[in-house]
Amino acid sequence: MLLFVFKVLCWFVFLVAAYNLGLIVFRYRHVKFAWNTNGYWAPLLPFIGNTYLAVLTGRRVNMLTTLLWAERYFGLPCSFWFSYKYHYMCNNAEEAKIVLNHPKCLNKAQLYGDVQYLFRNSLLLIDAEKWKPRRRYLRNGFKSNILKSFFPTFYQQSCYLVEEIKNVGPEQDLYKFFNKYAFMNFFLTSFGYQGEEDLDLVNIKKFGALIDSIQDEFVKLLANPLIPAFIWIRIPPGAQLRAHRAEIGKVIKLIIQDKKKRKLQVSEYVGNPNERPLVDLLLSDAYEKEYEDELYEEFTLFAGAATDTTGHTLAFCFTLLGMFPDIQRKVYEEVMEVVGDHTIQEANIQNLRYTEAVVSEVLRILPTIPLYGRYCEEDIDIGTKVVPKGANVFISAFHIQRNPDYWEDPLKFDPTRFLPENMSKIIPGSYLPFSAGPRNCIGQGMATILMKITVANIVKNFEITSKHKSIKEFKLESCISMKTLNHLDCHFTPRDKA
Ligand code: HEM
Repeated sequence: MLLFVFKVLCWFVFLVAAYNLGLIVFRYRHVKFAWNTNGYWAPLLPFIGNTYLAVLTGRRVNMLTTLLWAERYFGLPCSFWFSYKYHYMCNNAEEAKIVLNHPKCLNKAQLYGDVQYLFRNSLLLIDAEKWKPRRRYLRNGFKSNILKSFFPTFYQQSCYLVEEIKNVGPEQDLYKFFNKYAFMNFFLTSFGYQGEEDLDLVNIKKFGALIDSIQDEFVKLLANPLIPAFIWIRIPPGAQLRAHRAEIGKVIKLIIQDKKKRKLQVSEYVGNPNERPLVDLLLSDAYEKEYEDELYEEFTLFAGAATDTTGHTLAFCFTLLGMFPDIQRKVYEEVMEVVGDHTIQEANIQNLRYTEAVVSEVLRILPTIPLYGRYCEEDIDIGTKVVPKGANVFISAFHIQRNPDYWEDPLKFDPTRFLPENMSKIIPGSYLPFSAGPRNCIGQGMATILMKITVANIVKNFEITSKHKSIKEFKLESCISMKTLNHLDCHFTPRDKA
């Protein structure tokens, strides 16, 4: 028996040595770059590369916790190998700026392969050449005129939220609560349902619930790097994911049928006929002919991308406002000065400067998409080094935005950093919650307006408190959108209007 174990061990060591040797020979430039980046070498294993090091710590594995672990033990920047695919983890603003704006870094990192099962043909993942015209076209759904037309819906939904929050108990999962709200706002506006009364609410709610549960199932896939995605979706643990995916296809089909029945004629749009809500762009003849098969993935992507990111950011906003009453008071004073006892008007939005600064500061300290990656189609000179062709660069917005070289006292919650008079002090590339360059977040403007209206209306109506004492006590994890492992404590007490 002992001999057998010894033999197996020898074979294992031999195979690992051969695999590493093979990498050194066939991926010499990547290996050399990795070596120069942090100068240590842990044997790489087939399929999982060096990420097993994080598994050994016993923590639940995902990109952020793995990166935080690597930061602690090796320092940043560092190198991750997922099988033979090399990923450089960048925490430098200048390098991030170069990569995100480089025309040969428009494709997503190879690690995104794991999300292909859901979004292969969507804007998020498609190849740069195909992506360019599609992004230009879909951008029309997020132009300022369109965003302005969303205001009444956003405001109305924020008023419903004021009522709903009165029933929020201490056990409420704030992430799920605000995700639901964010989804509804996205759906009613981008799916062009403003002002319509006979909505297909059953299917809309089903769609929202499916987006939520499909993300939960996806987190399970991403948190298990030992089983590759293409195997996971074919074995029992992936059964729920498969079922949700099929179900979401059916629901979207019903919603599309319903929407097509009500589809507005192009002539009914004022101004530029190309500027229309997202759904009308997706259902236009031009789009449908070309990308018909890809419609479902696009719908799912947009709904998913709009929901958790905005929902989690709102949960963070209110918790931090509860933790920092002085800052909350300033938001309240601004809202009362700009809006007073009236309802919030569209024209008020641009004058809520401090409120906007609060949202920006929350996204600096707690960026809901803390890291994202690009693939280098050719050698990319990032200033002090050249990333070799075929390597991937992951930008850690999380680390850049907490780096004391760029932000004084980085863990201090200080919205004044984002007041107009201080904006020129922000170092380019040091603030990236929505990414940057041509492939940044298409929904940035929409999310910002919605969050401003929501924060203003909630602070106007409630005094917020939280038991959390410091940002350092948040244990963070991120498979898709970042959140805390611990429950967020946040209480909303109606303000005394007397
Ligand atoms: C607080 C809210 C949000 C944050 C922090 C956020 C952040 C981001 C980030 C960092 C990316 C780049 C990801 C990457 O490079 O892999 C991204 C891409 C994207 N976001 Fe957002 N997002 C938010 C809200 C939204 C909303 C409301 C929508 C839709 C209405 C949206 C739709 C998208 C889409 C479609 C992409 C892919 C864009 C492309 O590749 O061309 N996001 N978002």
